[in-house]
Amino acid sequence: LIIALLTYLPFRLLAHLRGLCVSTLLGWWEENQDQFPWRETKDPWKILISEILLQQTQAKRMIPYYQRIIKANPTPKAMVENGEESLLKLWEGAGYYRRARLLFKLAENCQEGLPNNYEDWLALPGIGPYTAAAVCSIALGLNVSCIDGNVKRIIQRLIGSKITKFSEFKQIADRLIDEERPGDWNQALMDLGRNVCKPANPNCVICPLSDDCVGKDDPLSFTTPKKVKSKLMKMDCLVILGKNASVNIRKKESGHLQNMWGFELLDRNEASFGEEEYCGNVIHAFSHRKWDIDVYARRTSEILTSPHDVPMAKLDQKIRDIVLAWDVKRNNS
Ligand code: ADE
Repeated sequence: LIIALLTYLPFRLLAHLRGLCVSTLLGWWEENQDQFPWRETKDPWKILISEILLQQTQAKRMIPYYQRIIKANPTPKAMVENGEESLLKLWEGAGYYRRARLLFKLAENCQEGLPNNYEDWLALPGIGPYTAAAVCSIALGLNVSCIDGNVKRIIQRLIGSKITKFSEFKQIADRLIDEERPGDWNQALMDLGRNVCKPANPNCVICPLSDDCVGKDDPLSFTTPKKVKSKLMKMDCLVILGKNASVNIRKKESGHLQNMWGFELLDRNEASFGEEEYCGNVIHAFSHRKWDIDVYARRTSEILTSPHDVPMAKLDQKIRDIVLAWDVKRNNS
């Protein structure tokens, strides 16, 4: 009897949650959803671009990037014709440039068309279970649930249990999903996680699921703290400033920021420059690295590379701007 009960109860709970969520969450979402330009299309290519941009990045911040990237690259063919560097240029400032390189590779692999099933999407460069599920459900109407940190937190709170295994989250999410509208369902959970069932200050009072949420009395106990240990790197950078604000940037052939253009950085203990002048300091944080860079400059009468024509990460743009400001100041004094 006990075994029968133990197997039966979770299914009762799930069946209950399912009835509850399907009827209230989508109704709530229809009234309260965020307006995003990628929600005005069902084109898998555009949805894909939005999902890649949204990986690890705040949705609102990505709107202008999405708009200019789809405008310049309405199809995978157009993207390949424009070339990788053009995409990296449009991606400038969005960070995580590896995503752009993988998107370009994906476009190369999909010149004959995009896949129409989950497994084939998953096999493409840069596509993990979350992105494959998002594109398949939103653009193709396929019945696959998206599991990310937000969805995990919502599920933990809803069932009042700190489950940790991906398979457990997946099982519950697959049972909850609205099979008629899987894309809307997944996006409703995304909006709920972003705007209501937030990690640090969940707003249970307005939550459409709160009536039957087991964890609502202590929602903060279901938040997994983000462990971001960023390593501080102390570096020096020597900028050679040539004619017409040209500089000594190079395309990075490998490693961090591959294929972006930037300055060479040297470990602070290893750098020994000659006739340069100190221009200022740049602090810049990446996901798990923090850079503290002393910037030095020296002039040359040569023409080097124009920093406005090539894709550069924010860090290198900051270095460039410090040197250009230093140059203006020197010329005025
Ligand atoms: N985050 C990831 N995918 C998203 C989407 N389609 N809409 C809003 N936020 C998201």
